[in-house]
Amino acid sequence: MFSVVALISGSGSNLRALLEAANNPLNGFKIVAVGSDNAADGLAHAELFGVPTFVVTPGAFENRDKWADVLYDNVMHFNPDLVVLAGFMKILPASFVGALSPNLINTHPSLLPAFPGAHAVRDALAAGAKTTGVTIHVVDEGVDTGPHIAQREVEVLIDDNEFDLHERIKAVERDLLVDTVKKIAAKTISLA
Ligand code: GRF
Repeated sequence: MFSVVALISGSGSNLRALLEAANNPLNGFKIVAVGSDNAADGLAHAELFGVPTFVVTPGAFENRDKWADVLYDNVMHFNPDLVVLAGFMKILPASFVGALSPNLINTHPSLLPAFPGAHAVRDALAAGAKTTGVTIHVVDEGVDTGPHIAQREVEVLIDDNEFDLHERIKAVERDLLVDTVKKIAAKTISLA
């Protein structure tokens, strides 16, 4: 079956949605491992589903390239068909991206190219955007610049704060991410 390694940095609600979807064989993909750059809370979801985890902390390495090489080796140990950055908050070097491309995708909480970077929800609010959303894209060497695979809009409400808006975006994001991974596994979306 089509196999996926997910990388996370935080609470892992997107990961949780993928794990739940993968439990249904009709969805056509399995999560073979979950990795993180820190002892993220979200790793607990993987443990609950009996999925192996690994943590590769940048601080343990001389530089980013050495960190990414070890992260890559951990990922490749599971020989996945696809690697999903599901709230992975570290920028990956070109060597990592190049070795996996195009089978490396990211989910981002804005309608790219608007509001790239780590504070997409805050930036959308600060800019007074009336609509924001989610983008799933192939990862390239830039920050949130790769080719788009899927987008979905989320309305910004008049009294939104960053937390509330991000929670509403994440509800849409989980659904879009699962749908996109299903389609990639079924080859109705082609990354190549
Ligand atoms: C998501 O909105 C993701 O796009 C962003 O961080 C959030 C992670 O949420 N980069 P979670 O850890 O999946 O709950």
